[in-house]
Amino acid sequence: MSDWTDIVDDVIGHVTLLKELGGRVVELPPGFFEAWDKAPPPCSGAAVLRPGGGGDGNTGNNGNAGRGDSQNSQHSQYSHPQQGGAQHSSAATPGPSQAQHSSAATLAAIAMEVGACVACPLHAGGRTKVVPGQGNPDAPDVMFIGEAPGEEEDRQGLAFVGAAGQFLTKMIGAMGYTRDQVFIANICKCRPPNNRTPDAEEMQKCLPFLRRQIKIIRPKTIVLLGGTAVKGILNSQAGVTRMQGVWTSYEGIPVMPTYHPSYVIRFEKAGDAAGMKTVKTQVWNALKLVLERLGKPVPQQGKK
Ligand code: URA
Repeated sequence: MSDWTDIVDDVIGHVTLLKELGGRVVELPPGFFEAWDKAPPPCSGAAVLRPGGGGDGNTGNNGNAGRGDSQNSQHSQYSHPQQGGAQHSSAATPGPSQAQHSSAATLAAIAMEVGACVACPLHAGGRTKVVPGQGNPDAPDVMFIGEAPGEEEDRQGLAFVGAAGQFLTKMIGAMGYTRDQVFIANICKCRPPNNRTPDAEEMQKCLPFLRRQIKIIRPKTIVLLGGTAVKGILNSQAGVTRMQGVWTSYEGIPVMPTYHPSYVIRFEKAGDAAGMKTVKTQVWNALKLVLERLGKPVPQQGKK
């Protein structure tokens, strides 16, 4: 059986289970139907259920159309566009490959599971939307991993779209990428109340989703943003201050820990220009190591 029919069988099995458990609504991530529509045709003989045309009320609260956020209107959940004048594009690739379609569809299935997850108290803690993560699903140069969604992320169902996200977007741009060319995710997929740090149970319950995503996405490098990401992925008690800027690895993938964007912008909010400059330089030095490891040139604008 092909990957695609496996995926369809998994989705049908999952939805059937939800129905048996009494569920009548399936929460889908933003961009699910786009990913579905781009998926390869099924092998002959495979039975495929096609949704009845786009996100409607039955699909829960997600759907990219009409989100009205200028920062994210170009960011499809699992797409791999080569737009935006990025310096590190794979120009030889004319369009999404079979592998990209397959990764996107598998990630969409995981995102459906995330949407139905009730494994930890965060599902009942007033989540608006789950935030599975978004970006290039097929072996991006970099996967960024943060802590958990904040208020804006919870509202939009997208990772890093609030104030910290704006700084992350700048970091990504300084490296010569667009947000669509990398993958952005979090340790926890639901917003903790008042943006508190997720507790150990919440992290342990949610981490299997991220581990599966990493396996499917196969990023060339991972950048861990802040202490929670370090603890979750590396299972390390050493804080980010000790680990930041030093290479380590996860499942054979080179991992670079650095500070969380929220930590960096805290200095700005406090009017501490010197502190801000120091931390920004540390973060940029870590990102330069990532570019060097990838064999990419260090873009001029990032040298400032
Ligand atoms: N902080 C995070 O760690 N993740 C987000 O998505 C947003 C803020």
